[in-house]
Amino acid sequence: MRFEIEKPEDCTEIEVLLDNAFGLGRTNLSSYQLRIGNQPINELSMVAKEADGFIIGSIRFWPVTVGQNNYKVLLLGPIAVHHTHQGEGIGSYLISEGISKARELDWEAILLVGDEPYYSKFGFSVIKTVEFPPPTDPNRILCLELTEGTRELLIGKVRCPFSRGR
Ligand SMILES: CC(C)(COP(=O)(O)OP(=O)(O)OC[C@H]1O[C@@H](n2cnc3c(N)ncnc32)[C@H](O)[C@@H]1OP(=O)(O)O)[C@@H](O)C(=O)NCCC(=O)NCCS
Repeated sequence: MRFEIEKPEDCTEIEVLLDNAFGLGRTNLSSYQLRIGNQPINELSMVAKEADGFIIGSIRFWPVTVGQNNYKVLLLGPIAVHHTHQGEGIGSYLISEGISKARELDWEAILLVGDEPYYSKFGFSVIKTVEFPPPTDPNRILCLELTEGTRELLIGKVRCPFSRGR
């Protein structure tokens, strides 16, 4: 198995992995609205491949804005690991690597919508001051600050940086 940066030719296989992990209705999830017209950060978008090149894991990170500020904030997701390889540490590796590269690239915080019991081991916790597109369960909005003090400055609506009507 190997980990590498996602390439354009990986895209179709990743879409199949995501459909299997989240179901075909996944693009109706509220966090997908933040990806419309947006582009994942290439250096942070990684895949896990088996020796034959079959993709068994994927993670992407997207730039977002919070409120009227220009803090460098990422949206983590989707992350998925093929069901035959779950529980092998692939998800943890993709998340930990993503966090560490994001720090190196001077991103200030990471947001995601997910289960706190899973993401707390990477330092994520519920943040109540930011608002995701509805419907999003506020108890699943999680934040990890990468630079000290950023978290308390994140207040307001989370948006795609390229959307109109900011
Ligand atoms: C969530 C996911 C990415 C984790 O990847 P993974 O490679 O299986 O994770 P790891 O092997 O690093 O960690 C597995 C551990 O996390 C736990 N875990 C997985 N999902 C969890 C969740 N939603 N809540 C709490 N714990 C969870 C497992 O029980 C396991 O615990 P253990 O180590 O004590 O046995 C993977 O299960 C997956 O693709 N799920 C379907 C898609 C999904 O739900 N994505 C996340 C959306 S927020």
